[in-house]
Amino acid sequence: MKNIVVLVSGGGTNLQALIDSERAGEIHGGRITCVISSKPDAYALERAKNNGIASRVIPRKDFSDSVSYSKAVLAALDEEKADLVVLAGFMTILDECVTRAYAYKIINVHPALIPSFCGEGFYGLKVHEKALEYGVKVSGATIHFVNEEADAGAIILQGTVDVKRGDTPEVLQKRIMENVEWKLLPKAVSLFCEDRIDIVDGRAYVKE
Ligand code: GAR
Repeated sequence: MKNIVVLVSGGGTNLQALIDSERAGEIHGGRITCVISSKPDAYALERAKNNGIASRVIPRKDFSDSVSYSKAVLAALDEEKADLVVLAGFMTILDECVTRAYAYKIINVHPALIPSFCGEGFYGLKVHEKALEYGVKVSGATIHFVNEEADAGAIILQGTVDVKRGDTPEVLQKRIMENVEWKLLPKAVSLFCEDRIDIVDGRAYVKE
């Protein structure tokens, strides 16, 4: 069984989707062993507690820079013997000391179709604001490995939704979460835990 450690910063609906999938027996070969939050008041921590999952808080605001913060996260991941790290609405970019130590072992969910509307500064509702501002007709979410560059690691899964006239960022966000994020994140986590993701020349392929 692989130890899955989930990193969160906010509401934790993606964490909830993972918990529900695990409960439904849909995560093969792994279990969520710890939730780590960068914010002490994240509702995701309640979700962990309500489901009997251990949690830790490593507040981003207690650290002056990304490197010292990342070192603290790295120490926690090592202590938790993480086999897979899932960034589920984790709003802090991790330094390369973490991404190198856990190469191809960190999965992120990004609420757009990478390489559009991604990179530094594109997170949460801002992503949807920018997509609507541009006038795209489809958007979606991307599940990808995390490397040294923001939102640039190998893509595992992507899914799309239509953008409708009159959508607000909140409406589009909800459509993408319900139809893509909450389905594809647990799926990618299970594929990883079943060793069904191949990496070839820096690209990820799902073994059928
Ligand atoms: C999700 O839409 C996730 O894709 C996004 O933040 C939301 C978190 O919601 N993540 C990013 O923008 C990371 N760049 P949640 O806390 O309810 O899972």
